[in-house]
Amino acid sequence: MKGIVFTEFLEMVEEKFGLETADKVITTSKVENGGAYTAVGTYNHKDILEMVTALASLINSPVSPLVKVFGHHLAKVFVKKFPDFFSSQKTLFDFLISIDGYIHVEVRKLYPEAELPTFSHRKIRENCLELTYKSQRPFADLASGLIDGCIEHYGEKIKVSYQDLDDNGCHRRFTLVRELI
Ligand code: HEM
Repeated sequence: MKGIVFTEFLEMVEEKFGLETADKVITTSKVENGGAYTAVGTYNHKDILEMVTALASLINSPVSPLVKVFGHHLAKVFVKKFPDFFSSQKTLFDFLISIDGYIHVEVRKLYPEAELPTFSHRKIRENCLELTYKSQRPFADLASGLIDGCIEHYGEKIKVSYQDLDDNGCHRRFTLVRELI
């Protein structure tokens, strides 16, 4: 997994829970290189799960909502770092459809070693999009948080529901309904 995910996770922990907690997350999770991540490096994706689990026990929270909060944070980071991906799509649905066929394709060009999920989509109606996350890695909660952050960015009134298609967070179908005005 690319280092940007790790550096942003630790930044978020520091920002929301303080430097001391961020340090404890690194020391108690026993991750490979003592938390010395660079944005362009590549690391084991299990380390991020180790760190989220360490944070969860430090602040006495379940893991899943924390991963989702991190996804929301990551969406904001992406808006700042990659504004063109957002400005080139007028609506949230167009943006989400563009992840699989465009955004992650460009990410792969930049980082051939990137481990990316797939998103298939089905436009059910004009105001209803079904988006299916599938990965070799269990980051469905991260996808949930990323979607929430993108909804916030586009400022549209959207209701999200989902159905898990496996038991380990690798396969989730989201249904997004846009309120008509
Ligand atoms: C500007 C927008 C985006 C950029 C630049 C981007 C880029 C990336 C990068 C660099 C990774 C890490 C790859 C690796 O670790 O090897 C990643 C992973 C991931 N992306 Fe995106 N992404 C974007 C939008 C989204 C959105 C909106 C979603 C969700 C709807 C999403 C879902 C995911 C998930 C869940 C992963 C974790 C890996 C996995 O599940 O297998 N991405 N993305």
